[in-house]
Amino acid sequence: MNVDVAVVPAAGRGTRMSPATRVVPKALLPLVDRPALQWVLEEAVAAGARQLIVVVSPGVDDLIFSHFEGMGGLDRIAGLKDVEITWVVQPEPLGLGDAVLRARDAVGGRPFHCLLGDNIMPPGAGCLAAMAAASDGRSVMALRRMTPAETSSYGIASLGDWLADDVVEIEGAVEKPGPDAAPSDLGFLGRYTFTPDVFEHLAGLDPGFGGEIQLTDAIRALAVAGACLGKVVGSAPLDVGNPPSYIEATTILGLAHPPTAERYRAFVASLLDRP
Ligand code: G1P
Repeated sequence: MNVDVAVVPAAGRGTRMSPATRVVPKALLPLVDRPALQWVLEEAVAAGARQLIVVVSPGVDDLIFSHFEGMGGLDRIAGLKDVEITWVVQPEPLGLGDAVLRARDAVGGRPFHCLLGDNIMPPGAGCLAAMAAASDGRSVMALRRMTPAETSSYGIASLGDWLADDVVEIEGAVEKPGPDAAPSDLGFLGRYTFTPDVFEHLAGLDPGFGGEIQLTDAIRALAVAGACLGKVVGSAPLDVGNPPSYIEATTILGLAHPPTAERYRAFVASLLDRP
């Protein structure tokens, strides 16, 4: 499937990162030398996206917008020179499903990647390209194996037939089940390649888990219609939504990012050598 549009929900306020996020939105928290959101947009561009639709919350939309507009030209960001960014405001925090639905008009009936703005893929993971390649015309969800302790923090798929070693038909989905209720150990890691029919399902949803409009409920509707595949990917995204994960993300990116890698690697090694 050829996909050149990406939707990036980035409306979260980042309460678990307070007080860092009292003024600065979570999307602009720095990771090494650029904000979290910039890493995600660069991942989408590297996978071929030429239009980026970013969903932000009111009150911080100007701040986020001015980061990307005020850099002395978008060409300062790797690959963004020929890319159009469309900003969409989610008026109220009604849930991830509602945030994605806000992008419907901008997407305009095309297949699209969806990248959660607080999950950063290590550069070079190639997750989105692999998902688009795995599609036979159906939507594809990136999956990773979850431990029993993790299932209550993720959407979990129920599985049908395996079409390849790492591609499976999805028959259902549950948002954040406990380990005993989880239908499998494969969960949604925050990267999705959707056909536009997902918007029909999103538009018909009632509030679900936590009283919010859940993207996972639209995935379940796609799955019930036989229109949903899962692709198991090797890389786990880095979560920047809480302090311990944020520090880990900074470390992993600092060790992988060419401008910092050599010196930072030596620094970390010197710490480990200390008694
Ligand atoms: C969201 C989704 C969940 C998904 C997760 C990936 O949850 O609702 O289905 O597995 O992202 O990170 P959140 O992390 O926003 O609570």
